[in-house]
Amino acid sequence: MYHPLIAQAALAVSFLAAASGPRNLVLSNDDGWATAQIRAQFDALVDAGYEVILSAPAVNQSGKGSRSKTPTTLDEPCEFDTCPVGSPAEGFNASNPRLNYVNGYPADAARYGIQTLSRQLFDGSGPDFLVSGPNIGLNVGISTQFSGTVGAAAEASKLGIPAIAFSGASGSQVSYTTLSTSPDAPSTLAAHTYAALTVRFLSTLFNSTASPFLPPGVILNVNYPSSERCPDPASYRWVLARNLWNPFATDVQVCEGSARLPHEAEVVRSEDGCFASVAVISAETKTDVGRATQAAVVESLRGLPLSCMD
Ligand SMILES: *[C@@H]1O[C@H](CO)[C@@H](O)[C@H](O)[C@H]1NC(C)=O
Ligand SMILES: *[C@@H]1O[C@H](CO)[C@@H](O)[C@H](O)[C@H]1NC(C)=O
Ligand SMILES: *[C@@H]1O[C@H](CO)[C@@H](O)[C@H](O)[C@H]1NC(C)=O
Repeated sequence: MYHPLIAQAALAVSFLAAASGPRNLVLSNDDGWATAQIRAQFDALVDAGYEVILSAPAVNQSGKGSRSKTPTTLDEPCEFDTCPVGSPAEGFNASNPRLNYVNGYPADAARYGIQTLSRQLFDGSGPDFLVSGPNIGLNVGISTQFSGTVGAAAEASKLGIPAIAFSGASGSQVSYTTLSTSPDAPSTLAAHTYAALTVRFLSTLFNSTASPFLPPGVILNVNYPSSERCPDPASYRWVLARNLWNPFATDVQVCEGSARLPHEAEVVRSEDGCFASVAVISAETKTDVGRATQAAVVESLRGLPLSCMD
């Protein structure tokens, strides 16, 4: 489906991206390099004017958290038969070397993108930022501990590259070829909606005057609600949330009269609106940071703006 609003938004953003701020991005995930969702995200980021290297697992590596291994020669085909058995541990699309697979875990793909591919493809320098996802399926609450999407973002942050993990309730683990063969499929629409939202979130963060954009060692965990219920990117609002429920925590106050942030599951599953949850988590513990660190991120996200659930 051709979406004129998305195309316009992408065009407006391309000037900003070109003008200043982060420009060189690594894109990773845990569902694999050839899924519709990561390819739609790649295309949307490129259309918005960013330089993007996709570096993601050769096969589905959901639920692998921060596991790591030395990537190995393929003893099965890449997902959706995108490379044959016996292919090297790392490989790329011959017609677009910015599309890369790594036959390891998500954290390995992120690290390879940052340490090896960026130096080769970004004129010798590392990336400015790592985008992980959007994951197919939510990563809220305790699931951040096992999520490879969060694992890839955490790995980047530990290597000094700021990163965000994005996940969405809708979509399915289908090939990127379905984006063109099934333009009206729910998985295609989800991929486009979430890709547009991610571009918008990043452009706002990168336009912020806060420095650094994210405190060191801190990543964001962003979750999108059902795109079947909320197909229009313009209808989404962004709500700062907690990763884990904690009655003793004192959070930064974003909304009048609430001492604690809502839980991210509560935000993203609410049917009172199209609410995306934004949780500020530590790359080490993959759960909530303290109030002062939350407050620094609120400052960076002033342009969104963050919203309340009413
Ligand atoms: C990907 O891996 C996850 C975790 O093992 C599994 O739940 C899911 O069904 C897999 N997806 C596909 C398409 O095989
Ligand atoms: C490689 O890129 C070409 C050109 O963009 C595309 O037609 C093809 O489907 C891609 N294959 C994979 C596995 O990415
Ligand atoms: C970028 O920031 C400037 C100054 O704060 C603001 O006027 C402008 O609307 C922002 N643009 C976007 C796309 O957020």
